[in-house]
Amino acid sequence: MHSNPITLEDLVERTIDLPSLPAAAMAIVRETEHPSASARTIAQYVAQDQALAARILRLANSSYYGLSRQVMDVSDAVVILGMRCIRNLCMVASTYPWVVNPSNGYGFGPKEIWTHSFAVGVGAQIVADRSGVGQRDQALTAGLMHNLGKMALGVWHEKDMPAVMALAGSANMTAEAAECHILGYSHCEVGRHMAEAWNLPKPLVEVMGYHHDPNSCPSDNPLVDCVHVADYLTMSMGLGLGGDGSRYDFHPESLTRLGIHESSLEGLANECEAAYARHEKLYELAA
Ligand SMILES: [Fe+2]
Repeated sequence: MHSNPITLEDLVERTIDLPSLPAAAMAIVRETEHPSASARTIAQYVAQDQALAARILRLANSSYYGLSRQVMDVSDAVVILGMRCIRNLCMVASTYPWVVNPSNGYGFGPKEIWTHSFAVGVGAQIVADRSGVGQRDQALTAGLMHNLGKMALGVWHEKDMPAVMALAGSANMTAEAAECHILGYSHCEVGRHMAEAWNLPKPLVEVMGYHHDPNSCPSDNPLVDCVHVADYLTMSMGLGLGGDGSRYDFHPESLTRLGIHESSLEGLANECEAAYARHEKLYELAA
């Protein structure tokens, strides 16, 4: 049984104060959910955060985009690259410093969480495309952020994490089951509460909460299924957190809901791997 002195509420409250996603990035995520979102308002939000704006400009001017003229300011970048592209760049630029911090408790290397999150983001886009649910932009964001709760657990439960990982490995348990056993809550519950406290859009809140248990998601949310499938594919490709020794419970009902046949999984995995390799360079520029 767990004897955890830190309650879920304590943990969420403490984590809200952590340097995490910049307010501007969260405002952009919320804004782009609205049908009325415009390039001008997006550019205004980006401009509020100088560090974020600088990263966006660095990415927009990188050889990755191969633009023939220099992008001078953020509104320029929004016009040239488009609102959706800017939103993606925002998410990449702002989640990079957040997920790249080594999470010692889990024993992950400095870039492992980032690599995994990014691979799940790219994978979730591919799964969204394949299923035709048409949510590829949200899918990237959802993938990048799905393990928000792990970051908090790694910080506040650094000392308990070796025991969690050891239990998962020795008892052939999933990481989230081992977290519940030792801490009394999992990274999914923590992530969901944090995302709620940050006022993130509901579909993202549900991704944090149900990406390991998509069948329990209370609403019809294809993003949860996209992230679950991409998380599974990423784990089986050994990208990021593949070596943590815990079990991964795949729920094929996600594929059914997305209208994807199980026989497509291998092809999807290859596509994800290729897309990850293609985009990896871009994300080094976000550092
Ligand atoms: Fe997870």
